[in-house]
Formats: sequence, C-alpha cells, structure tokens
Amino acid sequence: MQHLVDTTDLSQAQILQILEDAKRFKVQRPPQLLNDKLFITLFFEPSTRTRSSFEVAAKRLGASVVHLDPSRSSTKKGESLEDTFANLCAMGPDGVIIRHESNDAPGQLAQMQMTSVINAGAGNYAHPTQALLDLFTIMEYFDGNIAGKTIAIVGDIANSRVASSGIRLLTRMGMKVLLIAPEPFMPKETDLPCYEYLEEVIDKVDVIMSLRAQLERHAKPIFDDYDTYATHYCITKERLKDRNILLLHPGPVMRNIDISDEMLDDPRCKVLEQVKNGVFVRMAVLKLLLLDS
Ligand code: CP
Repeated sequence: MQHLVDTTDLSQAQILQILEDAKRFKVQRPPQLLNDKLFITLFFEPSTRTRSSFEVAAKRLGASVVHLDPSRSSTKKGESLEDTFANLCAMGPDGVIIRHESNDAPGQLAQMQMTSVINAGAGNYAHPTQALLDLFTIMEYFDGNIAGKTIAIVGDIANSRVASSGIRLLTRMGMKVLLIAPEPFMPKETDLPCYEYLEEVIDKVDVIMSLRAQLERHAKPIFDDYDTYATHYCITKERLKDRNILLLHPGPVMRNIDISDEMLDDPRCKVLEQVKNGVFVRMAVLKLLLLDS
C-alpha cells in the first residue's frame, strides 16, 4: 500500500513517471483505469481547487468519489480523527484524500495502514500534489530543462505548505530556490538565500511563485494594512517589465495584493494553467498509488 504524505515518499523514478503520465493524459484522454476504485475525500479546511481537482481526476479515470463534510460529521460529536478514518476505511475505499490543519494528520493516518492516504494539504508542512503540479507547469514552460533555473518564492513563506513542499521537490529536481519576504513571513530556519525585496534578485530569476498571506494561520494580525505590503510584494507589470519570467501562484490569489489584475492577464502568468495541469497530475498520482505501486 503506497501513501502520498509528501513528495519525499516518492522515488525519482516515480516522480518522473507522474510527470510522464500527466503529460500523456493532457494530450490524450486516458481509459477508465480506475473504474472499480472508490475514494473518500475528507477536507477539514476549505478548498476550491484541490478538492475539485482530485474529484475530477478520479472521475476522469472512472473511479467513484464520496465526500464527507467534517463540519457535518460525527467529529462534531467528539469522534477522533483516527476513529473517523477507521470507520470510513471499514467501508472499503481504495484511498482517502485528506486535508487537515495539523502537519502530522496524513502521516498518522497512513501509519494505520488501512487504506492509501493522499495528503491534499496539511498545516504549513506539506501539499505534495501542489508541488508536483507546480513542477509539471515549470517543466512544460521550459521544455523539461529546469536544472539550474532559479525560482523566487515571494510572500508568506513561513506559513505556506505550498512553499514547504515546493522547496523540497524543486531543489531535489535541481532548481535554485530564493526566498523573498518581509521578516514576519520568512521561515525562522532555512539554508536558502533570503532577501527582503524582489528587486534585489529579479534579474537572476526564471520563475516567481507568489504566495497569499495565510491569514488563517496568523495567531494575531501581522500587518495592519495589506495595501502597504502590496507596494513591495505585489507582482506588477512595472516590477517584471519585459523579463521572461514564469509567474505562478497556488491560489486563491488576493488580487492587487499578491498579483496585479494586469499581470493575471499577462501570458507569463500561468495560474489557470496550474489548475488545469493539476487534474492531469492528480490523475497520474492516483494511477501510481493504486495501480503501479
Ligand atoms: N492550491 C490550493 O490548495 O487551493 P485550494 O485551497 O483552493 O485547494
């Protein structure tokens, strides 16, 4: 039984297989490879993209999907996460796709070895399928030649599971990662080069990953005023000029704080392409976990 708690669970060969399968699925709709499989989605935090993307991916491969809404589940009567999971597993799903505010939740459920556990975002630690779809989008933009390319991650890095998983995967795949953030958004411990302003490094950058301020993870408000933050960190056309820089964001985008309206419409911005690619990457992940492992 294989789980996906973070991309560190995957061998290099498995990562390359996911990229290869996703590329094939993007040009040719695949057969119903998972038509006897059932997934349960269990999202303890809100989601637009990831939950829908997993459901679309599973259904495109012929699988069935059942969603349990935790806000209307017996966790509200005090049932533990482990007991909830064990009861769902008693119904015989082939995988449980979970999002949780705790960094450790997917790993703890995976250790129960009752069904394949797929992390759809855990705390500020890991969001492996986002990292994989970001990698896929970068590979697509640079025709597979990403070794030595430089990505600047800009924004609330300290609280971002997208950044954590992305740093682990993209450095492993040979990219250079630079961190750009004001002090409260910078991770306290990191070996990566850190800068306060994008302007310090913009001429060395091939990719920018802009991140939203994760207000829901701030114990108290960090900035009184995000308009002032935006004057330094919003990705605008004035800031990028005509540089050939690929612009990514995991969503949801705070318009004109993270990225300007104008840049969201710029051909260098691939935010919706990331969402599109996410379906193919998640199809490849489900295939790998259920059929190839
Ligand atoms: N990228 C991402 O995780 O988006 P959602 O929170 O909408 O799933």
